[in-house]
Amino acid sequence: MTTLTSPAVPTPRAGILDIAAYVPGRDHAEGVERVFKLSSNETPLGPSPKAIEAVKASAASLEIYPDGGASLLREAIGKRYGIDPARIICGTGSDELLALITNAYIGPGDEGVFSRHGFLVYKINIQGAGGVPVVADETDLTADVDKLLAKVTPKTKIVYLANPNNPTGTYLPFDEVKRLHAALPSNVLLVLDAAYAEYVRANDYASGLELALTAPNVVMTRTFSKVYGLAALRLGWMVGPAAVIDALNRIRGPFNVNAPAIAAGAAAIADDVHLAAALAHNDEWLPKLTREIEAVGLKVTPSVGNFILIHFPETAGRTAQDADAFLLKRGLVMRAVKAYELPHCLRMTIGSAEANERVIEALRDFMRG
Ligand SMILES: Cc1ncc(COP(=O)(O)O)c(C=O)c1O
Repeated sequence: MTTLTSPAVPTPRAGILDIAAYVPGRDHAEGVERVFKLSSNETPLGPSPKAIEAVKASAASLEIYPDGGASLLREAIGKRYGIDPARIICGTGSDELLALITNAYIGPGDEGVFSRHGFLVYKINIQGAGGVPVVADETDLTADVDKLLAKVTPKTKIVYLANPNNPTGTYLPFDEVKRLHAALPSNVLLVLDAAYAEYVRANDYASGLELALTAPNVVMTRTFSKVYGLAALRLGWMVGPAAVIDALNRIRGPFNVNAPAIAAGAAAIADDVHLAAALAHNDEWLPKLTREIEAVGLKVTPSVGNFILIHFPETAGRTAQDADAFLLKRGLVMRAVKAYELPHCLRMTIGSAEANERVIEALRDFMRG
């Protein structure tokens, strides 16, 4: 029955239409045949051959529902990190786990805190749950513990920290993460998003696994999309207190992770040789690209991930937008990061040696004019 005040069509909850949808990295360049996609932090090495074999084998039984508990994968992750599989939940990308955790802990009017240039999905999830996104300023494009803590109120339910952060590539030393956790009220959940943890070589870094296993209010999310090269399968995992895992298991889809993903993830996480090769490539190119791009006169934020944030001048003809268009013509697809309040920057994924060399050459030409 309609009343005079009812809308004529089904209407999303308040706030849903205020959400700026996530825009994924572009994957093509108009009129260019050979494209190097450096816009989504995918690995140039691809997945482990063992993961590919596992996906092929799983194709033989696509009519069967997957194991709803993803036991094979949770056990493989547990074995790799020495974790009780009961403390692990898997998801369709860590994106799904971030959404589940937000939906479970944030309701209308509740606040979720994250840092100014933090991963955009947090804001989208908070808004989607009817909550209030609260932004804390950063210092030198790095999350700032004191500024995050200053934003915590009695309404705060979650503090999100991408460590390292995308798109800046900066990180907080583990001592700082512990300081943040120690100062948070015990009813506030600290979400440590460690999507790029494998790449980090800094001695003072830790993913947060230790905290997620010991504290009652900390979870850590991880992904198979980056160093493991399984982005197309959408696979992530989370470690946390038993009570949090229990809550998420109640609201997730009954078969939220598909069978090829379960099989591939279990094979990938056991392939140390492939992981070492992917890390060696990044270890070589991250400093080299940073150096070479700085040598053409551009600033690069020091990164610990598999991507770099390049800063461009504001002068006409030399802007980030100009550079993006220039690079695109050569098939070099970067990520514009205006939505992260970084309008003068482009984010570049560490690509293959060929892609990286081409970017260096193109940026040299671009800056010469
Ligand atoms: C910081 C961060 N967290 C989470 C994700 C989501 O990863 P996925 O859903 O592919 O596991 C990304 C992807 O770019 C990311 O950069």
